[in-house]
Amino acid sequence: MQSYSSKEELRSQLQSARQGKKVVLVPTMGALHQGHTSLFDYARTIAGEDGLVVASIFVNPIQFNNQDDLNTYPRSLTADLNLCAEHGVDYVFTPAPETMYCPDRSVTVEEHSLSSKLCGASRPGHFTGVCTVVTKLFNIVQPTDAVFGKKDYQQLAIIRRMVRDLDVPIAIHGAEIVRADDGLAFSSRNARLSPEQKKDATVLRRALLQAHHEYACEGKSLHTIIDDVRKAIAAVPGTTIDYVEIVHAETMQPLEEGDNVSPALMAVAVFFDDVRLIDNIEL
Ligand code: PAF
Repeated sequence: MQSYSSKEELRSQLQSARQGKKVVLVPTMGALHQGHTSLFDYARTIAGEDGLVVASIFVNPIQFNNQDDLNTYPRSLTADLNLCAEHGVDYVFTPAPETMYCPDRSVTVEEHSLSSKLCGASRPGHFTGVCTVVTKLFNIVQPTDAVFGKKDYQQLAIIRRMVRDLDVPIAIHGAEIVRADDGLAFSSRNARLSPEQKKDATVLRRALLQAHHEYACEGKSLHTIIDDVRKAIAAVPGTTIDYVEIVHAETMQPLEEGDNVSPALMAVAVFFDDVRLIDNIEL
């Protein structure tokens, strides 16, 4: 495995190594966990034995709308590089913020529809930061394929839309959410939860499974399903609900009673004290 912080060096290495092979990019912000390593393993199945798997590790400052969130975002580069090597990543790109952004940068990539809902509504500018950095990573690495996790379902939908609308010649793959045995989705932010909060946070998976059952088996109204999820979460002390919504899985627009959309998506964002977790389930 080779690791580069310079975009010029990474580009020139990839230029000689690619030779018509698949190049599969897995963009990350580090603090890697089993969710990420499953993305690397999935990337390998796409790349094949001969292909190249490239991971980027970059805590992208322009997608944080809250300075404290950026400052407290977990960082663990040495452990991250070991995990990349263990999971067969060929190249890791670890740029510094100055490498990625010129001080007088003035161009961003903005999506105007899907990103107005859910996380986009509570984190203004977040998805412009994501689209901008992902476009830059695509231009630097020039992959044939890229892998994103379905835990950030809205992000995946927005990247798919961006690639479609801007004719970016890269196949986007969505990877399933990976969970601990108790149902908690792996997230870099879990590192900031106390052991007690980690137990509390399992309410998200239970509530989403309950919603799935009510939607698929009991035919309850969307309003009731959302209400039941809100009640289950609110019953756990220390939680603050950011949103609980049922949306169209491609457009992210909220569904109305009677809309017959498959798959619909239930998405939640909840603070456990000051740690904000997201989770979702296809209904
Ligand atoms: O999902 C993430 O970790 C980030 O949003 C991404 C895609 C690496 C862009 O910074």
